[in-house]
Amino acid sequence: MNHSFSEARSADIVRASFANTADPRLRRVLTALVAHLHAFVKDVELTVEEWATAISFLTETGHTCTDTRQEFILLSDVLGISMLVETISNRADGILTESTVEGPFHMTTSPARELGATIAGAGQGEPCLVTGSVAGPDGRPVPGARIDVWQASAEGFYDVQQPGVQPEGNLRGLFTADDAGRFWFRTIVPGYYPIPVDGPVGKLLAATSRHPNRPAHIHFEVSAPGMRTVTTHLFVAGSAYIDSDAVFGVKPSLVREFPLADDPARAAQAGLSNPFRTVDFAVVLPAAGPPAR
Ligand code: BEZ
Ligand code: FE
Repeated sequence: MNHSFSEARSADIVRASFANTADPRLRRVLTALVAHLHAFVKDVELTVEEWATAISFLTETGHTCTDTRQEFILLSDVLGISMLVETISNRADGILTESTVEGPFHMTTSPARELGATIAGAGQGEPCLVTGSVAGPDGRPVPGARIDVWQASAEGFYDVQQPGVQPEGNLRGLFTADDAGRFWFRTIVPGYYPIPVDGPVGKLLAATSRHPNRPAHIHFEVSAPGMRTVTTHLFVAGSAYIDSDAVFGVKPSLVREFPLADDPARAAQAGLSNPFRTVDFAVVLPAAGPPAR
């Protein structure tokens, strides 16, 4: 092969440099990456100034990362890459619960709580009873499944964003399903909120006239021995931004009405004020093993 560099042969020459990569998957990923990157640069005829801007942007993205902040994942989120990878890796085939992005706010361990407990230890909001069940792909209940939940307040803040205002562990809980695979807990209806915009990803959104908001949602990570863990959300139907999530996380199967229940007896039994919102989530986990290709 002629190894002298030219515009026409650029991708082939660089791809050939990876030909001796021993790991076949690494070879496939790198050679495809080179082909797509070179095609992209040729397509837009990237200038030297634009290349330098991109390098500065990525450098700033790296500098913004800390032990508790991952700006590269946020960049992947707003480019739709996180959702695409998640969706490819968790093809749900109409029976299994669909997955969505984990997001950056699952950085602390949720406090273990009894079934029926409230996760809303502080703050105001519409009271809500969340009920649900966990089953395997054959429909059989999964007793003892672990349900990790976390959400923003009605004003749209996670506990870690408001130290001193919200107590640690507020609006988080780790529940264990009962013998029939059921779970239930009390909370308040979350509000919509913006993703962090004080870094380079925020500048990218501003420069492209994109809003930074996510529609109201409750995060779930559901796991059980012998099952593949599902990371997902329940979205509040009718929430602001339900049709324009900044990170493309909404899937129709995950959107729920939160109907108002006016039932003083049930409210008293659940420990909620009346009236209250309700929502039910029937989770179906895939069997352990590699996802469908
Ligand atoms: C979240 O839902 O917590 C989230 C997801 C992606 C980016 C930022 C926040
Ligand atoms: Fe969230």
